[in-house]
Amino acid sequence: MTPHTLTLTHRFEPGADPRRAPLLLLHGTGGDETDLLPLGRAVAPGAALLSPRGAVLENGMPRFFRRLAEGVFDEADLRARTGDLAGFVAEARGTYGIGAPIALGFSNGANIAASLLLLRPGTLAGAVLIRPMMPFADPPPADLAGVPVLILSGAVDPIVPAANARALARTLSERGAAVEHAELPAGHGLSQADLARATAWLAARAGG
Ligand code: MLT
Repeated sequence: MTPHTLTLTHRFEPGADPRRAPLLLLHGTGGDETDLLPLGRAVAPGAALLSPRGAVLENGMPRFFRRLAEGVFDEADLRARTGDLAGFVAEARGTYGIGAPIALGFSNGANIAASLLLLRPGTLAGAVLIRPMMPFADPPPADLAGVPVLILSGAVDPIVPAANARALARTLSERGAAVEHAELPAGHGLSQADLARATAWLAARAGG
């Protein structure tokens, strides 16, 4: 479908299965709006897919927010871009007539999804966070009562220390989210186990 002109460059694929929440696909550093469409189709067949491109460029590579170094975030920029992404989701929901999406984010995309949960609860109906890390040094309070979140970490991830991902899981749980955290035998890259876990978790949310 030819996308409408919204505040972020994006792709939209309408859904065919009304039991499925739309997926908000959030790519990793250097990805774009086409990157995660095959993953979205694979893990949630029939779901509407909304896939924006991060508006920040780092040496030509799209991202969703600025960082000062690997794993060291520009939190002011992260806050501003999180607001922009929440605005985009609201705009897209009106334009395409879809409900609140479940985020499916990888790496940098998972990190802004975690930030959306913490700063703009209500934007997301849930989230699958693949290789996320804690986005804030001092995470804000948020009411995430009952919001389902699947965190998929890599046990040998060279970018995200295990303790950091566990701290994110704890932070979201403390705010009421229904968190499932799996540490997979994987590094930072996507593995078959990620696909299997995400597919099963999303099917359960669609009543399957
Ligand atoms: C980030 O900057 O969000 C994380 O370091 C993950 C990455 O994009 O490599």
